[in-house]
Amino acid sequence: MERDEAKLRAYFEEPPADVSLEDVDLARIPRHVSFIMDGNGRWAQARGLARSKGHAAGVDSLREAVTTSVRLGVDVLSAYAFSTENWRRPQEEVNLLMHLFATTLVKELPLFHQENVRLRFLGDIDALPKKTANVFQRGLDETAGYDGMTFALAVNYGSRAEMARAARMIASDVAAGILDKDQIDEQAIADRLYTAGLPDPELLVRTSGELRLSNYLLWQLAYTEIVVTDVLWPDFSRWDYLRAIRSYQHRDRRFGGVTSA
Ligand code: IPE
Ligand code: IPE
Ligand code: MG
Repeated sequence: MERDEAKLRAYFEEPPADVSLEDVDLARIPRHVSFIMDGNGRWAQARGLARSKGHAAGVDSLREAVTTSVRLGVDVLSAYAFSTENWRRPQEEVNLLMHLFATTLVKELPLFHQENVRLRFLGDIDALPKKTANVFQRGLDETAGYDGMTFALAVNYGSRAEMARAARMIASDVAAGILDKDQIDEQAIADRLYTAGLPDPELLVRTSGELRLSNYLLWQLAYTEIVVTDVLWPDFSRWDYLRAIRSYQHRDRRFGGVTSA
């Protein structure tokens, strides 16, 4: 993706002591960076605040992550906002999150317009409360023509549900005679996931220290480099983003082979 060098330099002015723009190779920025945005509750708890305040602060971090991704020239940014298992939370928190998604999206649409960002959702959006689903559809419609970064927000997303859905789609296509059973290969499955057409993430960042995937992109993360940071999502900044990319760029990605160097 194209980068505006002047805006990039200005955006990363006044770095902290341990990381700066010079620490990353701009020629090797991952195409697709994905985030498991975790730790909003703990952030709030540590301040004696309600969990809702943590989610509200998390929105600010996500906005910054979108801008950072655009400045760095990332092609695809994806982020896990609500899992199929998150319905188990207290009704009040679920309601609050659904409301927050809707109001935030309306408020942030100008940013997408300004930065040429195309919105996409991963997950079963139709099953969301009507108001949230409507706003999401509006976001999709308004940004459909943009060809800058793709921002894929995972809401009501679960990897296992996604794979079961792909299996149902394949079964229907076979039954309808559109697809032969011998044509069911990895691509046929990938084409029926919510991420169809997107490259797999090269880098996954999970905040707040949990060493698990929580049903996120199990297929797509097969060879992704994983960075887990103890930073809580509401504290995650552009500098933490640079630290994660720096870490990614020091990895030896072998894909099952041997190192060539
Ligand atoms: C992540 O923060 C946001 C969502 C899952 C919606 P959490 O709400 O999971 O925060 P912790 O893990 O309880 O700190
Ligand atoms: C994963 O976080 C889901 C999202 C960030 C949306 P959780 O907080 O739900 O994950 P667990 O419960 O700790 O595995
Ligand atoms: Mg959590």
